[in-house]
Amino acid sequence: MPHGIFITFEGVDGSGKSTHIRKLVEHLRERRSPVVVTREPGGTKVGEHIRNLLLRPGMGKMSSLTELILMYAAREQHLEEVVRPALARGRVIISDRYNDASFAYQGYGRMLGARTVRALDRAICGRTQPDLTLLLDLDPRVALERTRRRTNRGGAKLTRFENHGLKFQQRVRAGYLAMARQEPRRIKVIATDRPAAEVQADIRKLVDGLLAKRLRFGSTAAQARPAIKKRRS
Ligand code: TMP
Repeated sequence: MPHGIFITFEGVDGSGKSTHIRKLVEHLRERRSPVVVTREPGGTKVGEHIRNLLLRPGMGKMSSLTELILMYAAREQHLEEVVRPALARGRVIISDRYNDASFAYQGYGRMLGARTVRALDRAICGRTQPDLTLLLDLDPRVALERTRRRTNRGGAKLTRFENHGLKFQQRVRAGYLAMARQEPRRIKVIATDRPAAEVQADIRKLVDGLLAKRLRFGSTAAQARPAIKKRRS
């Protein structure tokens, strides 16, 4: 059965994910890789409604466990509607966040602990785990400043998570870095306090490397368009 490639982007708020995802997708589409771009929480109609509940400032009090369960409710819908079908069709999925965010934000940030998150993760995600996770790493002080400048320019409000301030974001970052130490083969840390072109070059190197490896080992995933067969004459 053909199997795609699942790539996730993670990082504290304001670490530069959106820009780098956009540039990576341009690169992959130029190479005619069959890319699906998605995000969490969200990526489906139901998921986007749940995202709205989770992110909107002024939602009122929400317990950390409610927050975690809503993240996994959106994730279940996303897996069912988008991720698993795309993987089955051999697509390259690029997701702006996935389950590592729950470990970092709810497990570490909200201090629910990894065990609680893992219990849900086993039930919902099971074996659908990312092949590669690009952790865009930036000091939350700098990241929050970036986010504030951006929201001031665009008139948008900070989300519930961005509003939580520096200490929360520092716990989230520490969580991500701890996970990267535990799983260095899957989670690659990419410092984003550098020129964007350098960061993007590192990202492309890792992604192109993974795609080339899959092609060598015969998975149909990431296969750019199948080569046109020559007609025998
Ligand atoms: P973003 O899409 O702009 O990155 O915003 C999503 C926010 O939701 C971000 O602050 C991280 C947070 N989040 C969690 O707290 N847990 C999760 O599992 C996910 C996917 C996101």
